[in-house]
Amino acid sequence: MKKNSFIESELENRRSQNLLRGLRTISPISGIEIDVDGRTMLNFCSNDYLGLSRHPLLRQRAAEFMEKYGAGSTASRLVCGTYDCFEQVENKIAYLKGSETALILNSGYQTNVSLLPALADRETLILSDWLNHNSIIQGSLLARCRVERFHHNDPDHLKRLLKENQDSGISRVLIITESVFSMDGDQSDIDALVKLAEEFQALLIVDDSHATGVLGKRGMGLTCGKNVDITMGTFGKACGSFGSYIACSKKIRDYLINFCYGFIYTTALPPSIIGSIDAALELIPTMEKERLDLLKKADHLRSSLHEMGFDTGDSSAQIIPVIIGDEEETLALSKQLEEDGILALAFRPPTVAKGESIIRLSLSALHTQEHLEQLIDIFRRWRG
Ligand SMILES: Cc1ncc(COP(=O)(O)O)c(C=O)c1O
Repeated sequence: MKKNSFIESELENRRSQNLLRGLRTISPISGIEIDVDGRTMLNFCSNDYLGLSRHPLLRQRAAEFMEKYGAGSTASRLVCGTYDCFEQVENKIAYLKGSETALILNSGYQTNVSLLPALADRETLILSDWLNHNSIIQGSLLARCRVERFHHNDPDHLKRLLKENQDSGISRVLIITESVFSMDGDQSDIDALVKLAEEFQALLIVDDSHATGVLGKRGMGLTCGKNVDITMGTFGKACGSFGSYIACSKKIRDYLINFCYGFIYTTALPPSIIGSIDAALELIPTMEKERLDLLKKADHLRSSLHEMGFDTGDSSAQIIPVIIGDEEETLALSKQLEEDGILALAFRPPTVAKGESIIRLSLSALHTQEHLEQLIDIFRRWRG
């Protein structure tokens, strides 16, 4: 047996199922158009929901912070110390989230894979929504404790699991869910979850990644002003930058600084990134009109798709899954969209369950009515 034989056979396996992934080179033309192999494509798959990634203020602030602090942060924040710009931005996050404190981490993925292991011991029970993001699934596995998944967006099932596990010798319960689900664009009932967490003395952790910048008070997410123990979110989506935050009490922040290895054992984010996050946090509270327009466009797109008989599940935000089901058909539709100048990716197993393939559309504040009509027209022609 050759040492690399499993690599070739696994790749072949994926290839034969038409599931092989690869990287393609693109370059940005505008906030909403990208060049793919010399063709200008309209982008309906980015998470840059407010179009901030190319905003002049983010680029300018990134340059200013790099000029002042240098290109890299040189070490973990626990080693040489923490630059004041991190703490200033953390204070801004806490103010906007309405939390006592905040902590910046290097990415949403890194946060989820290290937060759960930091909070769990072997006798912990993690209760996790069925449709939680892969980073939460990986974090749950790394926590090396019992994990139960509750039916998607179903507080009644969660309550049953909480009841069943009362007095069962567990040390603590962690409930984890997303506020806006990354594939389906539906929303959690945060109030119901807060109530259950309080009743059963469980720690409630909410991944607010897809709501940060788009929904909630000042657009800062669905957990703003709610009694959620720990909120995490990313700066890589509507904030147009990179990195992640945790909003929590001072005690929990102190705990994580001591026990969260994804914070401790890594070089801090580059100052330029902190600069662009700072600028995004300045702009987001002022973008109420853009947010309203974005959600109106999402409503219009959903109702147009429904009129043609397409199913968009329970989507109620800027992420719209068009549920096709069959993998081949989903791929064919994605190809048709691409031929017509639209980039909208097909999500197939293993990202979604077998037979539940979707085209995931994500809208940006930069999409115009004409862009939407162009997209709707392709779906109409596809329906025949
Ligand atoms: C719900 C959710 N959480 C976390 C992440 C990871 O965030 P980041 O891109 O900052 O690593 C993502 C990104 O895909 C996500 O959709």
